[in-house]
Amino acid sequence: MNVRFFKKFYLLPKWLLELLSWGKSFKNNPIIGSYWLNRCGLHVVRIVIAHGLFRFRLLLLSPLVSAEDRRHFRQHGFILKHNFLPEGDFNQLARELQSYTGQVREFVEGTTLTQRVFITARERAQMPAMGALVENPGLDRLMRYCSSKNRRPLYYVENLCNHANVAPRPDPQRDLHADTFHPCVKGWLYIDATSESNGPFIYVPGSHRLSWRRLKWEYRQSLEACKQGARRDPGRYWDGSFRVSAADLEVMGFEPRAFRVPANTLVVANVYGFHSRGEASEPSHRMTVWMQARDNPFNPLFTPWPKATASAFEWGWSKVLTKLDRAKLASGEQRNFAGRFSR
Ligand SMILES: [Fe+2]
Repeated sequence: MNVRFFKKFYLLPKWLLELLSWGKSFKNNPIIGSYWLNRCGLHVVRIVIAHGLFRFRLLLLSPLVSAEDRRHFRQHGFILKHNFLPEGDFNQLARELQSYTGQVREFVEGTTLTQRVFITARERAQMPAMGALVENPGLDRLMRYCSSKNRRPLYYVENLCNHANVAPRPDPQRDLHADTFHPCVKGWLYIDATSESNGPFIYVPGSHRLSWRRLKWEYRQSLEACKQGARRDPGRYWDGSFRVSAADLEVMGFEPRAFRVPANTLVVANVYGFHSRGEASEPSHRMTVWMQARDNPFNPLFTPWPKATASAFEWGWSKVLTKLDRAKLASGEQRNFAGRFSR
């Protein structure tokens, strides 16, 4: 504990709540970022409990998906399905997304211009193919299982414009990293094929599993992340998404894999496993339906009402996004516009 802890003591309930949920910021939360608590193993204990509960919920949700999918997800940390939608349905979806007109959020990561639309029930009412994808029983069951929460994810359409003519910013996506300390799941249905030209998704198979080497690495990283002021590397640890070096990967016995995939491929990955956005070799686009399912890792239960809970999360998250917009728009970090994706 340090001076800032006592200066902002009134925030203690918030810090404790974060500690008992998905809070991961070593910078903003002095309990999570306490050197002495992490020296005693706080970060590692949170990881072990969160992973144990994840496996417990997965076990209970087993009937949702086939034994083959379950085994692959548990062993490798991801599921990949080519030709996910019937050809006609996929073509209709691709046309619908490519010609989408509406509110788009746009921001710069590295030299990439990222454009995103958060898809709520209101958007889906105007987008029949997108609505059908959300209702797709195979996707629904897979995401409910992999998230371990029996809830549908949040849906976005994401369009990356690689090497857009922008003033570059630091890019948090290009280094291999784990999103957070607990298992959580993201999914991508690729509208564009991916290759070296538009930057494939990179994943390190098996790196989602807790091994003794991984836990030792996590322990060391947690102590690094507690460093304050100039001793803290500003690009690496502020948010608890630890970056992993090639040397550390080798020590842990891992090898990254690039997912160069055709359009209409579904990838669902546990992003506690190391991953990154691969480099794009030329100006290009990459459009995906992007799915995110993050929830309190310390809640041992999952919802018995998948649809209603998903609607509540969707409503809550659109409020949060609107609030976040205000600060990002004011700082110039983001621009919102009404129009179409750049293609
Ligand atoms: Fe990530």
